Amino acid sequence: MSNRLDKSAYFYCMLGNPKASFGTIAADLHRIRRGALNPFFSQQAVAKFSGHVQAIVDRFVDRIKSCAERGETIPLFYAYRCVTVDIITEYIFGHQFNLLDRADWGRDFYSAWRSLWELSPTIRQFPWMMDAFMAMPRWFTALTNPKALEVVDLFSDVDEQTKILLSSDLKQIESKPYPIVVWGLSKSDLLPASEKTFTRLAVEANGLLAAGFETTGAVLTHTTYHILANPEVHRKLLAELAEAIPDLDHIPGFQQLEQLSYLRAVVKEGLRLAVGAYSRLPRVNPSGDMQYGNWVIPAGVSRSLS
Ligand code: HEM
Repeated sequence: MSNRLDKSAYFYCMLGNPKASFGTIAADLHRIRRGALNPFFSQQAVAKFSGHVQAIVDRFVDRIKSCAERGETIPLFYAYRCVTVDIITEYIFGHQFNLLDRADWGRDFYSAWRSLWELSPTIRQFPWMMDAFMAMPRWFTALTNPKALEVVDLFSDVDEQTKILLSSDLKQIESKPYPIVVWGLSKSDLLPASEKTFTRLAVEANGLLAAGFETTGAVLTHTTYHILANPEVHRKLLAELAEAIPDLDHIPGFQQLEQLSYLRAVVKEGLRLAVGAYSRLPRVNPSGDMQYGNWVIPAGVSRSLS
């Protein structure tokens, strides 16, 4: 299959973010936007950030310990999303949303995303809908569609965070030991000026936040469930980790952890079982027919596999 396929406009308009890489339809524009993101997700870039990931995980472990001491239940669905939101917001804005510190394990924050997922089938039918909600007076949206208001407020928070970051002091940004994605995009040589406007960067930030926290949060939740539901898997995993990490105050880096064969298998199986996207990802060839076996799929018709 050609790698210059467009995304399906009907399918991908569902989050109301056509300027984010996720919602970009035309293959050529998508390549530019996606290419500018790639440097931030190389092994090298991630290695620079891994100490901060560890610090966030340490805060998570401390909170779990104190919950355990008090005999409190830990809602892993939300708890893992606190971890992934704090990680991705630190990476894209250089500033954490600090969900891990919230007593409700970020349930309010998640409720806004849930509202967006719930609105998405309707947005797919009426792609202008999100713009309309954003343009309406707040009181009117509150009265007519409280779920949409949650989404509008969430988008506004991301806009605000982007604004704060872009007006930050250069020295303060450069003192960070890792690249801050949205700042880096605003200075990127890989993007023309038209791709570095405030609106475009804020929408990309929004897409990165959604893409970065929900998928990883879901994988961690599913994987933990399956480990605990399978005592033999649990036992083997703990045995491998106990041997590789004799001192809990010195957790090896991800490059070393990646070498542990059982852990690696568990992570891969978790990724497989959690399913990153619960639907097909349709693509369209706008300019040519495609032969598939005995069938000809005409230009402009979307096709997908799962
Ligand atoms: C287990 C973790 C993850 C899974 C399973 C996953 C899966 C996916 C899938 C299925 C797509 C849609 C691709 C398409 O439409 O063809 C996607 C897009 C995307 N993901 Fe992830 N993702 C994960 C983690 C992340 C993380 C941590 C980030 C960033 C911090 C991220 C950023 C993105 C972005 C920016 C896009 C849109 C880019 C594009 O359209 O090329 N993802 N991801």
